[in-house]
Amino acid sequence: MSKRTKWDTKGDLDESKNLPIYQHKATLQQAVKDNSFLVVTGETGSGKTTQLPQYLHQAGFWSNGKIGITQPRRVAAITVAQRVSQEMHCSLGREVGYQVRFDDCTTQDTVVKYMTDGCLLREILADPVLSQYSVVILDEAHERSLNTDILLGLLKQTLSSPDKASKGRSVPLKVVVMSATLETDKLSVFLGGCPVFTIPGRTFPVTSKFSCAIGPKDTESSVYIKEVVKVALDVHTSEMAGDILVFLTDQQKQIFQPPPPGIRKCVVATNIAATSLTINGIKYIVDSGFVKQLNHNSRVGMDILEVVPISKSEALQRAGRAGRTSAGKCFRIYSPAFWEKCMPEYTVPEIQRTSLTAVILTLKCLGVHDVIRFPYLDRPEERFILEALKQLYQCDAIDRRGKVTRLGELMVEFPLPPGLTRALLQAASLGCEDLLLPVAAMLSVENIFIRPGHPEKQKEADKKHRQLGVQAGSCNDFTMLLSVFEKCKASDAPSAWCKDNYIHWRALKSAFSVETQLREILLRLQKKRDFPMEKFDGNKSELFRRCLCTGYFTNVARRSVGKVFCTMDGHGSMVHIHPSSTLFDQEAQLDWVIFHDLLVTSRIYIRTVCPIRYDWVKDLLPKLHEVDVYELSSVAREEVTDEEVAKWMTKETAKRQTEGSAEAVF
Ligand code: CDP
Ligand code: MG
Repeated sequence: MSKRTKWDTKGDLDESKNLPIYQHKATLQQAVKDNSFLVVTGETGSGKTTQLPQYLHQAGFWSNGKIGITQPRRVAAITVAQRVSQEMHCSLGREVGYQVRFDDCTTQDTVVKYMTDGCLLREILADPVLSQYSVVILDEAHERSLNTDILLGLLKQTLSSPDKASKGRSVPLKVVVMSATLETDKLSVFLGGCPVFTIPGRTFPVTSKFSCAIGPKDTESSVYIKEVVKVALDVHTSEMAGDILVFLTDQQKQIFQPPPPGIRKCVVATNIAATSLTINGIKYIVDSGFVKQLNHNSRVGMDILEVVPISKSEALQRAGRAGRTSAGKCFRIYSPAFWEKCMPEYTVPEIQRTSLTAVILTLKCLGVHDVIRFPYLDRPEERFILEALKQLYQCDAIDRRGKVTRLGELMVEFPLPPGLTRALLQAASLGCEDLLLPVAAMLSVENIFIRPGHPEKQKEADKKHRQLGVQAGSCNDFTMLLSVFEKCKASDAPSAWCKDNYIHWRALKSAFSVETQLREILLRLQKKRDFPMEKFDGNKSELFRRCLCTGYFTNVARRSVGKVFCTMDGHGSMVHIHPSSTLFDQEAQLDWVIFHDLLVTSRIYIRTVCPIRYDWVKDLLPKLHEVDVYELSSVAREEVTDEEVAKWMTKETAKRQTEGSAEAVF
C-alpha cells in the first residue's frame, strides 16, 4: 500500500455522534483487533453500515489493506458510499469508493470500499486470501443472499485452515459479519462460536393494524396495489404529521430528498428499505404483504421473478421502520388469516430457492470440487446442486468428471448467466462478438421499451417498436435488441432518438457501458494464447442465431397447436409467446424457437424469442437428456477413479462417432 498521511477525520458530521453505535466505538475497534470473526448486530439505523468502517479506518486498519464492506444490493452499496464519503470529507471514489457489477467507482487511493457481495466473490476468485484487504465486513447477512452465504462458507474454510489463511498475507484477515438480531446465534455457531456484539437499541413502540382487504385467497397483484394506494391516502388525510413508507414490489424512487416544509413525504419502496437503508422521519408504514422474489420454479425448471407473500419476520422488520424517531403505526393491508395461512415464519435463504449455476462454477474455479459437502450456512437441496451441475455440463463449463473445462474458466469471468456467456464465447470464437456483445448488454439492463399508460400513446409506442423490429431485417427479439443498440449508438442525438422511439435512454446508456465492460473482459481473455478460434461460412443472420443456440438450446420450444409451444427440456411445459415480443401474433409461421426467459402468470409466457431451425440444435438436444447427474456429482465428491472416467470417455467418443455429430468448437 502506498504511503500517505492519515487524513483528518475529526470533522465527522455531527449527527454521527448521536448514533447508538458511537458509544461503543473503542470497544468495537478492540473487538475487531482481538478476533478473526466478529458478529455485530443492532437495530436498523444504529450506525453499523456507515460508522463501523470509519471506526476501523480511524483505528488504523487501512494501513494493512482496504476495509471492504459488502451489501447484497447495488443501490445500498452506492448510496452508503456516497454518504460515508461526505462524512469523511472526500470525493467519492477517492478514499471512500464503491464497486458494483459494471460500475467501479474506486481508485488507488480507496481504502474504504463498499461493494456488492457478488463483487467480493469475484475478487476472492482471483485472490482467495483477499490480500488487498485488512478487514472485510459482510453486511446484511440476515438477508441471506446467495453470494453472502457463499462468502461466509469460503471465509470460514480459509480462515479455519491456518496454512491457507496466512499464505500471501502479512497480517491475518479480519471478518466482521453484520446482521439483524434474528440470525446472530446461528451465525456465531457457524463461525466457530465467535463473539457477538450487540449495539443496544433505541426504538419507539409501533402499533400494527390488520385489515381484511387481502385474505388467504388474494394473490392477484392488482388487488393489493389498489388497496395500498387507498390506505396510504387514508393515512395522509386522517393521521397526524409524519412521513409514510409504503412497501410495494416496485423500484425505489428518490427516497432521500427531504420534503419541502408542510409537505408530507410518502416513500414507496421494496423490501430494501426494511433494513439496508434508513429513511429519517418515517412514522407510518403501509405494508402490502408482498415482495418480488427470484425463485426457482420447479414447474418450468428456471429461476423466475415472482410476487410472493413476505415472511412474518420480514413483516416485523417493515413495521419496525416506523419507530425510529418516535412512536409509529403500521397498517397491514392483509388479514390475520393471511398472516397465519400465507406468510412463512422466515424468508427462505436465496441459496435454497434459486439456481446455483454461477455459484457452483465459481466454487469449482476456486478449487472447491466437492460442492456437495461445502460448508453452507443452510445447505441447498441436493437436487438443486445437481440441477446446477447439469446445466454447467450442458454449456460445457464442466466435463463429465465434474471438473472445470477451459471454457468454464473463461465463462466464470463474465458476470452473466451461463447460457448467455456460452453464446457470447461461441460468437467470439467465430469472430462475430460484435453481434452478441450488445445483446448480452441489453439483456443485462432493465427493460428498455417504454409502454405508456395512455391508450393512444400506447398504440403509438407499439407502432414505433414494431417499425424498429421490421427495420432489423430478420425479425426476432434478439436482433431487435441489437438493432436498437446500434441505431441509437449511431444517432447524433441519442437521447432524442430514444424519446422519439419510446425507449428508456437511461437503460440504454447503461447498456452502452455494460457492452464496453463485457468487451474489455473478452479482449483480456482473447489475448491469452489458447483462446479458441474457428471459421464459419454462412450468412450473418444464421451465424448469429446459431451462436445463440449453443447457449440457449436448453430454452428451446416447438410449436404444438395454435399459439401453444412446448418446451423440450424434459419439463414439457406449455408456453405462449409474450405479447411484448416482435413474434407475437405470428405464431402460425413458427416451428422451433429459443427464448431468453419465462414469465409465469396464469399462463407461462416466453420472452425475447428467436426462431431457429431444428438442424441447429439437433446435435445439442441429446445433452438435455443424456446427462447422468449421479456421475457428475459422484465425481464432484471425488469418488470416481481415473480409470472409470477413461471408460466414459471411450463410451462418449463411440457414441459421438455413431451419431456423427460435429465436434463442438470447445
Ligand atoms: O447500518 P445501520 O442500519 O445500523 O445504520 P446506518 O445505515 O449506518 O445509518 C446510520 C444513520 O445514517 C441513519 O440515521 C441514516 O438515516 C443515515 N444515513 C443517511 O442519512 N443516508 C444514507 N445513505 C445512509 C444512512
Ligand atoms: Mg446497515
